[in-house]
Amino acid sequence: MDITFLLNGETVELSGVSPTRTLLDWLREDRNLTGTKEGCNEGDCGACTVMVVDERGPMALNACILFLPQLHGRAVRTVEGMAAPDGTLHPVQQAMINAHGSQCGFCTPGFIASMVVAHCQGRSDHDDVLAGNLCRCTGYAPIIRAAQSVERARPPDWLNDPPEELTAVPQPHAPETSDELAAWCLANPDGTLVAGATDIGLWVTKQFRDLGAVAFLNRCRDLKRIETTGESIRVGAAVTMTEMRKVMQAHYPSYAEMIRRYGSEQVRNAATLGGNIANGSPIGDNPPALIALGARLVLRKGDARREIESEDFFVDYGKQDRAPGEFLETVVIPRGQDRLRCYKLSKRFDQDISAVCGCFNIAVADGRVTAARIAFGGMAGIPKRAAQVEAALIGQPWSAETIALAQTRFDADFTPMSDMRASSLYRLETARAMLARYFAQDHGAPESVLELRT
Ligand SMILES: Cc1cc2nc3c(=O)[nH]c(=O)nc-3n(C[C@H](O)[C@H](O)[C@H](O)COP(=O)(O)OP(=O)(O)OC[C@H]3O[C@@H](n4cnc5c(N)ncnc54)[C@H](O)[C@@H]3O)c2cc1C
Ligand code: FES
Ligand code: FES
Repeated sequence: MDITFLLNGETVELSGVSPTRTLLDWLREDRNLTGTKEGCNEGDCGACTVMVVDERGPMALNACILFLPQLHGRAVRTVEGMAAPDGTLHPVQQAMINAHGSQCGFCTPGFIASMVVAHCQGRSDHDDVLAGNLCRCTGYAPIIRAAQSVERARPPDWLNDPPEELTAVPQPHAPETSDELAAWCLANPDGTLVAGATDIGLWVTKQFRDLGAVAFLNRCRDLKRIETTGESIRVGAAVTMTEMRKVMQAHYPSYAEMIRRYGSEQVRNAATLGGNIANGSPIGDNPPALIALGARLVLRKGDARREIESEDFFVDYGKQDRAPGEFLETVVIPRGQDRLRCYKLSKRFDQDISAVCGCFNIAVADGRVTAARIAFGGMAGIPKRAAQVEAALIGQPWSAETIALAQTRFDADFTPMSDMRASSLYRLETARAMLARYFAQDHGAPESVLELRT
């Protein structure tokens, strides 16, 4: 594959690139840019964080699960490219020195990259920004103090890569439109579509899998589009979780709050809505929310499109309703009164996969339940609706007695497994508690776990 991108302000042209060569390996092995560190090699620790700039602006990404072809037409800055050409440190670098934000220094380049991006974006939500950067020895307080101390400093000009350099010659492996992608999928029915590579990256770095023919979705304009009409929000499959969080903030804030806890800043900047659905994972965070909202999926094969209920996509564990040569194009989310609440239960607040993710959308009129859509991740082999619980609610008074009765129906809907994240019993108990929480919140209890005080 032939690709062009900017690296620390200079144009790089590569030909014959392996589609699964990671940026991290290439930087360290081919460029001797060893400032970017390898910790976990699976997107968890942030030691490999780099700054990537495209039409959406600067973003932090994990280089260990970023394939070189995903950089085509983008600009990359590693820690070696953060200081000025004359050696003047970036304000964030100087602040880390002043605040004693580094001890062994292994994590520091990754922190610097995340902090420089956040500084360019004028952000002050440092806990969220740095949730994907792990430090074993310094402790986070000095690092946060460093970030706070430069909030008002002007981002230096030397980081502005010339935008005209970012235009890249179209490449067959990186379709620019849905039509091109549809043609590629027809020609390569067993090929692999790489969206954000937050799953696929690990197939390569941990399982050493050969992906066969590969197409990258990150340049496909149609798949990155979000259109809002009176009835629905149409979200392209390649929209990232960062973008999705912004959109949901305006329509379904509880969904947005759940996305805040989805992976880390670096993961959300890469991971796409389509990838989170198409991987068919029973513990993906989007499917329960989409099912509870009654979202529909548009699947495309060649010129033919079909629209299905999101819940029907998940046929069985590891089996989805998607034919060879077909791809997920759009997710259609209905608009309406916001009754959605999403509850993500995981062992840590930040950067953790859900043990149980419950999403509730219950309509009440004149004191009675008129409609209910409740869906769970982590309770079965697929994301699944709680049909018996819903039936126990619909038509009943919106009361504590109804909730208590409906709670007894979870056993009829689910037989969850026990694994390292939670036991079967705990999952059932927690699902029942989530229903009670929904009712309590509807009667004024705090929305966020961060608001709860013992
Ligand atoms: C550190 C870390 C933390 C994570 N935290 C979370 C979390 O909190 N919650 C959560 O739900 N997940 C989490 N994940 C999992 C991962 O981020 C998601 O599953 C992600 O949404 C996958 O999207 P992607 O764009 O990266 O997909 P990819 O890895 O690019 O692809 C995943 C699969 O989807 C297919 N695919 C992608 N797009 C399409 C399309 N348009 N049509 C058809 N097939 C397609 C690919 O071929 C592949 O089979 C985490 C992952 C990591 C590494
Ligand atoms: S090395 Fe840990 S996130 Fe990349
Ligand atoms: S300074 Fe040692 S891991 Fe952070």
